[in-house]
Parts: sequence; C-alpha cells; structure tokens
Amino acid sequence: MALRTILTVPHPVLKQVSRPVEGGVTDEHRALMDDMLETMYEAPGVGLAAVQIGVPLRIIVMDISAKEDEREPRYFVNPEITWKSDELKSWEEGCLSVPEIYDDVERPDRVKIRYLDYNGKEVEEEADGLFAVCIQHEMDHLEGIVFLDHLSRLKRESAIRKVKKAQRIEAL
Ligand code: NI
Repeated sequence: MALRTILTVPHPVLKQVSRPVEGGVTDEHRALMDDMLETMYEAPGVGLAAVQIGVPLRIIVMDISAKEDEREPRYFVNPEITWKSDELKSWEEGCLSVPEIYDDVERPDRVKIRYLDYNGKEVEEEADGLFAVCIQHEMDHLEGIVFLDHLSRLKRESAIRKVKKAQRIEAL
C-alpha cells in the first residue's frame, strides 16, 4: 500500500467525469482501493473518490465508523443511485480536496444505491444519515462536482481563494 497525494481545488482533474470500471473488479482495482483507504485514513477523512488522487475511475472508499480501533472500510465500484427520498436534509460538509472549509449542503435524506464491492459482488442497499450524505458527496466527485458547487458563487470563490492561499503558505 502507498499513500497518494490528494488533489485540491481548483485542480482541473477534479472537474473530470470519472470512467466506469469495465470488466469487473481486478487486483489492480483492489490495490488502488487499498491505497485510497490508507490515504483517506492518513488525511484523516471519512470518504475519498479515486479522482481525488488523480485517477478518474468510478471508485469510492469510505469509513464512517469514526472509531480508530474498529475500522469499517466500505468500497463502492460503479455506484448508482436508484432512488432518492423526497425529504431533504442539510448537513455541514467538508472535503479532503477543499481543506479547512465547511458549509451546509442540502441533499435527499435517504437514497438507495447499487454498486460492486471490493470483491466485485453486486450490492444494493439503502443509506441514511451520514452514510447517505457521504455517498452522495463522493458520487458528486465522480461527476466532477465538489460540494462547493452546491454553494453560492461568492462562497465558492472565497473558499477556493482560501485553499490556494493556505497552499502557498505551506509551500514556503
Ligand atoms: Ni469530497
């Protein structure tokens, strides 16, 4: 396993639409998911899409257990939302590609999803709470969308300026 570099806004790759994984989940994809998970834990974060480490494939890793001693990694390959609740809910979101910025985003409260897991098995399940927020946030990344795109242009531009400024200071 290896730590990868997480791209931050406004990196152009974050705007790319990710390609589906074709021909099933291979050892190569599993190695990528292992790296993604390690990178996510190190950051630390609760979810990461492959495009955030510069690989525009429809792959997401997640761990919303919030317990360092009992990790519960989840893997999503080619995830699809098959149903969304009419009820919306607002959560304060953050993103490893937008460090130190948090803001409220409104999304469907519950969703049903279908995806391939780490072993390539098809899974269907319903997500609510933090799981629903996180999977929708990560699936946005697969479409080239970051959570800032749900905010006003003013808030988005201010956030991107802050991230760029912080990076310049870090680079000194
Ligand atoms: Ni994100």
